[in-house]
Amino acid sequence: MCGIAGYVGLRPAAPIILECLKRLEYRGYDSCGLAVESGGPLVVRKTVGSIDHFQEEIAALAPQGTTGIGHTRWATHGKVDERNAHPHVSCDGSIAIVHNGVIENADRLRVELTQRGHRFTSDTDSEVVAHLLEEDVRQGRSFDRAFLALQESLLGTYAILAVRAGSGEILVTRKGSPLVIGVGPTEYFPASDIPSFLPITPRVVYLGEDECFALAPSGMRRLVLDGDRAVRRGDVPKPDSVSLAPDSISKGNFEHFMIKEILEQTGTLERLIGGAPGVVREIVPLLRRAHELVFVGAGTSYHACLFGQYLLAAVARRHSDAYVSSDFEHHAELLGPDSLVIALSQSGETRDTLEALRLAKDRGARTIALTNVELSSIARLTDHVIPLFSGPELAVAATKSYTAQLAILALLGQSLVSDEDGVRPLWQARDALFNLTSEAARHHTRELGRELLGPQPVFLTGRGRHYVTALEAALKLKEVAGLKAEALHGGEMKHGTLALIENGTPAIHFYDDQDFTRTEIAASELRSRGARIFSVGPRPLASSDHHIRVDDAGIATPIVQVIPMQILAYELAKLKSMDPDRPRNLAKSVTVP
Ligand code: M6R
Repeated sequence: MCGIAGYVGLRPAAPIILECLKRLEYRGYDSCGLAVESGGPLVVRKTVGSIDHFQEEIAALAPQGTTGIGHTRWATHGKVDERNAHPHVSCDGSIAIVHNGVIENADRLRVELTQRGHRFTSDTDSEVVAHLLEEDVRQGRSFDRAFLALQESLLGTYAILAVRAGSGEILVTRKGSPLVIGVGPTEYFPASDIPSFLPITPRVVYLGEDECFALAPSGMRRLVLDGDRAVRRGDVPKPDSVSLAPDSISKGNFEHFMIKEILEQTGTLERLIGGAPGVVREIVPLLRRAHELVFVGAGTSYHACLFGQYLLAAVARRHSDAYVSSDFEHHAELLGPDSLVIALSQSGETRDTLEALRLAKDRGARTIALTNVELSSIARLTDHVIPLFSGPELAVAATKSYTAQLAILALLGQSLVSDEDGVRPLWQARDALFNLTSEAARHHTRELGRELLGPQPVFLTGRGRHYVTALEAALKLKEVAGLKAEALHGGEMKHGTLALIENGTPAIHFYDDQDFTRTEIAASELRSRGARIFSVGPRPLASSDHHIRVDDAGIATPIVQVIPMQILAYELAKLKSMDPDRPRNLAKSVTVP
């Protein structure tokens, strides 16, 4: 959460930083700001709201200077206002920092620094960093030494960029929060993520935990301790070249990233069918050997875990468990060297999932990551990585990464019971997906959306793997379109939740040929109590008021069934004049506990 981006080079820093920050807005968009260094005092500007709004606001008075740092915030400490926007500065205004992460001992540090005369102007945990640096410099330490001392003083997670008036350089470090450096001929772009600078340079340096560097137009130097002295060394990592096409991170002609990513799913599934079976085959012996199989993930990725659990039982006759990663602590104690933990995470940075993996590793368990970011923290922590073949996903709502997770799990399940590559149902899903994303299908879904615009809550039901779809569809409707939407298990309604049904309550049913009859019975029970019946399956139910046809694709049906629901959430957000890419209070990458 929070995006940080800096620039040091020979060009004006402010416009470049703003462009870089714009491509990080998926990490947070509560407020933003930048600090620019131009030989004199630092110039700091902040605002509440989006980067577009900020760009307009500072167009006339954009600070001059070729070194600067910027931030787009997802609030953790302190409310959303200008005071709490980054950068934060020292009392004398000569040091500015931006921070992503959580400083766990910030309260104690704040008390100590206040006793030493420092004045705090925000409620954030991050501000202590600026004052710590200032305090150390006051005590006679060099700025480099003060920066290195942060590692001893700070508990928690951080990616930090710091700039000092008159220095013409940026100091950078990270621990537990992501930070990469884009490298140009005479310029550097430290940032939370590669898309930030990808249209400018594909060359990137990945920072290791606790590494510190000084970046200046003349070059990059490593900061290390020599006794109690900070020294600069020339042994810096060689940049890698990333192969992502810059247009994979732009909206192109689409109005929003979310619809672009929904429509990309036919292509991502094709790529996955081409590339994943080989990777999956290598992993299968691990699954066969494992005594316990455990899936962990959060949000949408957790829903994919539930699908994995269902699939292993139904297809491969294997027991497994699926856990929400933030709830893993006690279950982890039951693991051992014969256990295999499969972590699902689009971003590869979700803190809860990282923690779950650490616990599993402490118990000696083997680990696999299914992730869309192959150099992410989760990918680096696990023994094996299965990529999602999805390309960057920038809308906050997970769409193409979810269907890719399901597709890989389907391959895993099939590979456990057969020597065939298991791609046939995925081709079926691909064809159905193509039809469901057609303009005509989208129009139909948009019209159905109007039926859900009222104040009534929406209930979504299904059994088995279709219950997983109900959960995921409800999450999409909640987060993207702000609907009160709840998934109810199809077989559980008569045990209590039926009491929620009133005249006119919309109820969306997911099913396939196999559970058609049972669904028909459940839907007619709801209809008798006044519910309006929406059906998503191969043919309408007798009681359907509205139907979306989704052909049966065997075990891959949930990949297809969720597509109209993603489109529905998107269209509803637009009908309600909400921004589908940036749901209220959320951020894409949840790197806080
Ligand atoms: O990057 P991850 O898959 O680990 O993210 C997990 C959740 O934060 C994520 O799926 C979240 O629920 C999305 N907003 C859902 O659309």
